[in-house]
Amino acid sequence: MFIRLNFEMEGNMGRKYDLLLSQHKQLYTNRLKLRQFSMEDRKDIFEFSSDEEATKYVTLQTNKSLDQVANSILNYYSKSGVYAIELKEEKKCIGCIDIRIDSDNNKASFGYILNKSYWNKGYMTEALDIILRLSFEVLKLNRVEANHYSENTASGKVMKKCNMKYEGRGIQEVFVKGRYYDVDHYAILKSDWDSLNNK
Ligand SMILES: CC(C)(COP(=O)(O)OP(=O)(O)OC[C@H]1O[C@@H](n2cnc3c(N)ncnc32)[C@H](O)[C@@H]1OP(=O)(O)O)[C@@H](O)C(=O)NCCC(=O)NCCS
Repeated sequence: MFIRLNFEMEGNMGRKYDLLLSQHKQLYTNRLKLRQFSMEDRKDIFEFSSDEEATKYVTLQTNKSLDQVANSILNYYSKSGVYAIELKEEKKCIGCIDIRIDSDNNKASFGYILNKSYWNKGYMTEALDIILRLSFEVLKLNRVEANHYSENTASGKVMKKCNMKYEGRGIQEVFVKGRYYDVDHYAILKSDWDSLNNK
């Protein structure tokens, strides 16, 4: 209580979120453990990050070697808010989900990618649901939002299944690798989350 008051008085919400994230480095769902990455995940990361199809719609670079993966671990995967998705049953890292906090606006966005061999089994819906729970019940954010290329329908399905609302489509919103893409926008508010969870 006192800590919270101090953070708010100093206007330093960013530090509050960093602290809370550092206290929630592991999250659990029925089938998954979300945890920090380590160098031991190199081969598993390579499986999804070297796959042209899996990386087609994400900003992550498509890795070509285990050395590149090691660099990505140092520069990206080890950052605060970036979670390895481990399948408990196999003790294998099958993907990544990250939360990107905008502390000025008390909101967050996220990104995700899963090893293609594990698509369409509900894993990312399960991972996103726990990230939303973290966002609203621990971080007490007001809004979580995300975008996906309109043609990447599986990503939109995951957002819908997690009760995010469609907010509209930006026609030819981004120019990537020589062509324009339409982008779909989704969001969920804390008030939506609370009423869905009977709070
Ligand atoms: C998007 C992604 C993370 C989804 O992960 P996942 O674990 O397969 O997702 P889920 O199984 O929880 O849900 C996927 C849903 O999309 C549906 N789906 C899959 N491919 C689809 C397609 N081509 N068209 C329409 N729906 C599709 C599935 O049927 C499922 O819906 P359902 O449960 O109603 O049947 C995964 O496909 C992926 O890693 N893609 C590459 C990276 C990426 O695009 N990231 C998002 C960038 S915005």
